[in-house]
This record gives sequence, structure tokens and C-alpha cells, in this order.
Amino acid sequence: MKNIFFSLCLLTLLPLHSSIAIISKMANEPDSVYLFSYATTKNSNMNGLHFAWSTDQENWKPIGPEFRFLVCDYGRWGVEKRMITPFLFQSHNGIWHCIWSVNEKHGAFAHAESKDLVHWKPQSYPIVMENNNCLEPEISYNTSNSLYTISWLSTADGKTQSYNTTTTDFKNYSPAKSLILSNRLNQRKKVFISENSETGTMHKVTWELVDGLIKKQQLAAYRDQLWSESAKTDLARFTSLQTVDATITVNNSKNKKISDLLVGVFFEDINYAADGGLYAELLQNRDFEYSLSDKEGNDKSWNNNKAWRLNGDKATLDIDTVSPIHQNNPHYAVLRINEVGAGLINEGFDGIAIRAGDKYDFSVFVSNPDKKSKKLIIRLIGKNGEIYGETTVSSNSTEWKKFEGVLTATQTASNARLEIVPQATGNVALDMISLFPQKTFKGHKNGLRADLAQTIADIHPRFVRFPGGCVSHGDGLGNIYRWKNTIGPLESRKPQRNLWGYHQTAGLGYFEYFQFCEDIGAEPLPVIAAGVPCQNSATGGAGQQGGIPMCDMPDYVQDVLDVIEWANGDVKTKWGKKRAEAGHPMPFNLKHIGIGNEDLISDIFEQRFTMIYKAIKEKHPEITVIGTVGPTFEGSDYEEGWKFATKLGVPMVDEHYYQSPGWFVHNQEYYDKYDRSKSKVYLGEYAAHLSGRPTNIETALAEALYLTALERNGDVVSMASYAPLLAKEGHTQWNPDLIYFDNMDVKPTVDYFVQQLYGQNAGDTYIPSIVMISEKNESARKRISVSVVRDSKSKDIILKMVNMLPVVVNAKVNLEDVGEIMPSATRTVLTGAPDDNKARPSSDNIAVSKDFPYSLPPYSFTVIRVKTNKRE
Ligand code: AHR
Repeated sequence: MKNIFFSLCLLTLLPLHSSIAIISKMANEPDSVYLFSYATTKNSNMNGLHFAWSTDQENWKPIGPEFRFLVCDYGRWGVEKRMITPFLFQSHNGIWHCIWSVNEKHGAFAHAESKDLVHWKPQSYPIVMENNNCLEPEISYNTSNSLYTISWLSTADGKTQSYNTTTTDFKNYSPAKSLILSNRLNQRKKVFISENSETGTMHKVTWELVDGLIKKQQLAAYRDQLWSESAKTDLARFTSLQTVDATITVNNSKNKKISDLLVGVFFEDINYAADGGLYAELLQNRDFEYSLSDKEGNDKSWNNNKAWRLNGDKATLDIDTVSPIHQNNPHYAVLRINEVGAGLINEGFDGIAIRAGDKYDFSVFVSNPDKKSKKLIIRLIGKNGEIYGETTVSSNSTEWKKFEGVLTATQTASNARLEIVPQATGNVALDMISLFPQKTFKGHKNGLRADLAQTIADIHPRFVRFPGGCVSHGDGLGNIYRWKNTIGPLESRKPQRNLWGYHQTAGLGYFEYFQFCEDIGAEPLPVIAAGVPCQNSATGGAGQQGGIPMCDMPDYVQDVLDVIEWANGDVKTKWGKKRAEAGHPMPFNLKHIGIGNEDLISDIFEQRFTMIYKAIKEKHPEITVIGTVGPTFEGSDYEEGWKFATKLGVPMVDEHYYQSPGWFVHNQEYYDKYDRSKSKVYLGEYAAHLSGRPTNIETALAEALYLTALERNGDVVSMASYAPLLAKEGHTQWNPDLIYFDNMDVKPTVDYFVQQLYGQNAGDTYIPSIVMISEKNESARKRISVSVVRDSKSKDIILKMVNMLPVVVNAKVNLEDVGEIMPSATRTVLTGAPDDNKARPSSDNIAVSKDFPYSLPPYSFTVIRVKTNKRE
């Protein structure tokens, strides 16, 4: 069926003479041809597996050319993901195995298998050598013992040696054995393809197989062309388009229930989203735990002293670990004052933002090793030492003790500093030095930055995902986010390296996160690693790294069960008691939990996910577990992830895709085909990405258009969150993001307002409508989209209409079928030129009736909220 569809597509695409060529070729094709598989060294070996075919082993025709049929997924982006010397082998049962060397240093090779060389299973990276590399791997098969032998070269110590291992299933391998170099089969061949000498493997195959490869490449080229459509070429694309007429007729009889959780937010500590961002702490490196390893040694100034300096030369600063407040925070500062007036300055995160008249809570742990009590003057100061506020604390303890004071800012400044000036000479030990505005969101201590939190709250998100993203599963096993390290007194929390290249204090931990959800009326959606780190890991090994050892998995599973008890359990339970001690005796009402984040669907993953899933199901059947199906909308992890989730009966899966606006325009039917009896979908990460990664009307409208399709499919898509949410200017690792900010201001993107309009105008019933468009050009028709929902609380009918065309769409809206409506409705419009990145929605009231005209401006998103008489 797929083939027929594909051929039809091609016939409509290609000029007539090429269609005839295809038909005649089908009638006179060779029985078999030669296929050559190879990779080049271009792009540091990251270009993946290529094919060429030939009828005579002399003249080779590259497919693509150099189309990537398989790309390596080993290790970190940017430096890894390399496919070196791939070796293709067809086993006796017809399955193709491809193995390759992943780099010049690791003792692992990569393996992937496929039936047709088009669809590949998830890759595995068996480690076969300790402290040695694995180069030019090749496969042979012995029919007498049904064993595959994989041999390779290793070059540690400058000596080339050969080794081999055997396997029956490409999952379990015998220990590596040394092999006499001359016994290597060396089955690779050299051929000329497009005048270049290439090394690879040659195979005699059916023409049908090669034809499948050619069609795969042609389809990819066609899709690329469609998906790269952008507003830049709209004028040429729609040159003859005048105004377009449309009728929108709402059909209430066919309405269906949709998820009332559809729009939520994805919070990850990326781009300084937490420390230096939403977490209102104003001091940087308050715990002296910054470490070179946070940035993998790339920034020598990123150490325990980061953000701290002395105010002159009359004092010295040392970092000690002899007697910390808590073992989870081993470092602290020892300040030796040689002359009164000397002190320590913290520069905050790019300065400290203060507002005149506002109060700031200062706290510090002090111990006086010289047993002399000391008064500390605490000041907010300007660049030249101007004093913007002052308080004193008297530290009188030889043991660690917390002291507090309040500063009132006399000035508004974006780049103040905090100065601590002990009023006696001698040594003083300091740690957990903290400054918080009293005006945090909802006034909580250890709270969140009010303006940022409010901007998130204004979306009316129905859920908040936390802590990521990749932060959930971490860079290597040691970096997996452990929720238990993030609760309790701040000094006992365990800070760690943030995989995005900075430091994570865990000050915004699980408690603060759940409290925020409660404050804004959103459901918590914690995402916990499935016992495996990120497949893009580079620390402590590379890739998925074998997962948490099975002997440690029972404890890990218990940690996951404990978070449910912590969130929902009675105060008499062990973990419920801890929640109560933190100030929240009432349960947090956790309903969903995500396990895994776009993981490689390996056996290692499946084993661990199954353990966690079964344990939750058994102990907490009331919790909906959300599984994971890879980092994109297709491909091996998507396919295998779905198969696995279906087999296990996982109630919901997390899909991710960052795509071009053209992709969103051309994939509005993506969920229309989804089987409603399988897992529900949480579209956990998505965003429209243009080249250069701007956010503007074009990206916002592509998302708005796609969201009409999500509402239409709200019976299968239960939740969706744009990603990432926050980004501090000057500290981004990822663009675009929904909300940018600096220390003083919050700068929502145009795309933010789409999320806000959907969040504020959500419904729980979808009402289909028949949309008739005068324009017959399919490309134009796809850029008009409508969704109508009813909100059962307000009984309002909400129309969302997107026009991604450069011309007005004159619509007639027929609401006859929804019953009585009020004559005045609220209309909100977001519109602008496609590259407008400053557009903001504007609202007014308009007259509506059961049949009313409405003109959709060019490039616009309109929400009309109609009141009905059905009020309760
Ligand atoms: O949203 C940014 C990153 O994108 C997430 O951490 C990860 O899950 C995805 O690849």
C-alpha cells in the first residue's frame, strides 16, 4: 500500500517524461545489481552511511548522492556521532547488519540492523576493549557453529593489533581475543564513485532493494522541499493569490471530549532557567561549590571562587573542606581579615538587580574558628562602592550557625554587588551566603522570581514538566537528576554539574517546583530518568553507558516510588512526613509521572523502564506513567519506542520534535491517523525552528496552526509543551526559547503569546467544523486552519483561526449548531509581518451572531471567545 502511495506521489511530482521512464524501467529492470556501502571522511566522519549501485562493478551511481541512510547516534553532539569505516553484512536470514568504528579512542563499535536498509533498529555500542580502540570492524559468519565473528584493529601504544569476538545475536558477545593480524579477512573493497576512491563493502542484491533505496532518497528530497517552505518565498508561491473566501460551519452534533490538560509548560534548567533565572537567589556560587568540572575544565575561572572577590588586599580568601556544614556541601570560604574594612564581594549573576524601596533577605552560615564573635556589615554596593543598602549580623558561634538580616535598597540598579565586611581582624568561615528579594512569587521564602513566575502563570498552563529534558537523565550515570538530593534544608541539598555547562544548586528543587505548580493551578509532571543517562552523554563514558547497574536498580525503583509517596502520601508515611516538615502537610496531588526522556530504545533501557513501570503500576495504579519514544517524529527510537510502549500497555508516551514551520504546515494530519486504542500522547517538546533560530510571527503562526490540529486530536494528544521555556540573555545554550529575560526584565517571544492564547482559551470539548475555502491551491489551503472548542466551566465557545497566507481570508462563520450565543464576543488577534518579532496580541469586543462575517488579516492568529446563554 505504502509503495503504491509512494509511486503515485512520485508520478504527480515528476514531469511526464520521467514518469514514463519509471514505468518503462519497471518493465525492464535487472534481476540483480551490485550495491556498495561506504562513508566518507567529510564533516569529521559525521555524514553517515551512503550507497551506490552498479551493474558491472565498474560504473557506480551514487544514491543521493551521498544521501545518509543511517547516521551514528553515539556520544555527544558536535564532536561524536561519527560513522567511521562502516561494514555492511547480510546474514543468512536476510537481515542486514552494519557495524562501524565510533571514534579513534573508545573500545566500542556500533551496530545497527535493518531488513531493507531503509528502516533501521536502534543502535547498540558494545564495549569490547578496555583502554584501547576499535577500528575497521568487520563481520564474518561461520555456518558450522552459527556464530558471527567480529574482528577489528586496535592501535594503543602505537602498535596495531587485531582482536575478535563472537556473537549469535549482536546482543551478547564473547570476551575479546587476540587474533593474528594476517588472519584478518579484510573484506573491504575500493571503488570509484564520482571520481573519488571510496572504501566499503560490495553486495549483490535485487534491483528491488536498490529501487527502495532510490525511492527513499527521492521521498526525502521531496519532503525536504516541502518542509523547507518558508514565508520568505510566500510572494513567489502565492503570487496570483488575491483575497480568499472561506465558510466555517460548526457541527456540534459531532463534538468530542478532549483533554483538559492540553497546554502546559516544559521547565528545564537550561539557559540559566533556574539558578540566575526563575530561582530568586541573587548571589552566584553561594555555596562555593562551583567547580572546574561544571564546564569540563574549559573555563579556568569557573572554580570555588567564581563570582567572589576580595575588596582589596587587606584580606585573604581560602576554600576549605575540613569541617563543612554538611557533607553534601563540602566547600566553604575562610576569610582572613588583616585590617578592618576588608571584605568579600559577590557579583551576583551578571550583577544583582535591586529596586529602590524593596527589601532583601540576607542569610549566611558562619563559624568563628578563632572563637571570637564578629559583627559583619552587609552592604549592597554599586560599581564604585556606592552604598545602596546596609545591615549587620552578629556572628557569635564557633560552630556553623545561620545568621540573618534584611537590607532595604535605596536605589534601583541592575548591577549591584553584595559586600560582606567583618568588623574584626582574624579568621571567619562563611558558607551558604544568600540574598533573596522579599517580593518572591507569592512571597515564599527560598522562592521564585516574581515577574518570571507570573509570566509563566499567565499562560494558564495545565501542567509543568520538570526538571527536563536532558537534565532529567543527565550526562552520564553520575549526573542523573536525583530528586532526593533536591529537598530538605538548602545546606543539605546536593548541588551538581548542570549538563548544559554550569552549576545547579538544587535550590529550586522538588519542593519549590511542586509548590509553584500548586500556586499556579497546574499539575506537576516530574520526569525521572529510566535508569539510563542521556544517550548523548560524554562524561564517565559515552552514550547510554550501560544504565544503572542492575544490582542498584531496586534502590532506584524505590526512589521513584518514594517520590509518589513524598508528593501524595499521608504525613505519617516516611516521605509524606518530609513533605509536611517542609511546610506542606496536604498532598500535592501528583497524577502523572514521566519515565525517561527521548532515550535510545535499547535492551538496557527496556529492562530498566519495565522494572520501574511495573513497580509503579503495582504500587500506584492511580498514577499515569508517561513513557518515551525518542527525540523525533520518526526513526528507530520513535518506531521501537511505540512498539515497546504498546507491548507494555504504557498509558501515555512523550513525543519530541523541533521542526521547520514548513513541517508544521505539512504535518497537520500527523495525529489524525493515530490509533485511539493505543497509548495517549504527551507532545513534551516541540517548537518551530527557522534557520538562525529566530522567533517571530512565522514561527508563532506555524505553532498556532499546529495547535489547531492538536486540539482536533485532543482525544489522543493529552498534553503538549513548547520547549524550552526560559532563557537568560547572554547565557543561552539553546535557541529559540519561549521567554527570554535579563536581571531586570522579562521578554516573552511572539510564540509565547500563542501558548498564552491557547492556555487562556482552552476547552474540553472539540466541536468539528466544515471549512470550505474558495482557493483550490493545496499549498494555500494548508495555511488556513480552524479549531472550535467549548469550555465546560464558562460554557464559552472558542474559535481559533489561523491565516498563514499573505492575503486576507474573508470568512463567514456559522455558529447555528451551538445554540444560543451572546451578541458580543471577545476577539484577540496576533498579527504582523512574518519576520516581526515584537508583535503582541490585541483584544477588543466584536459583534457576533449565528452567522457572521469575519476577515482574517494576512499572517494572523485570531481567537474569538463567544459567550453562550448556557450559564450555570
Ligand atoms: O529542550 C532542549 C533539549 O532538547 C532537551 O533537554 C532535550 O530533551 C531535547 O533534546
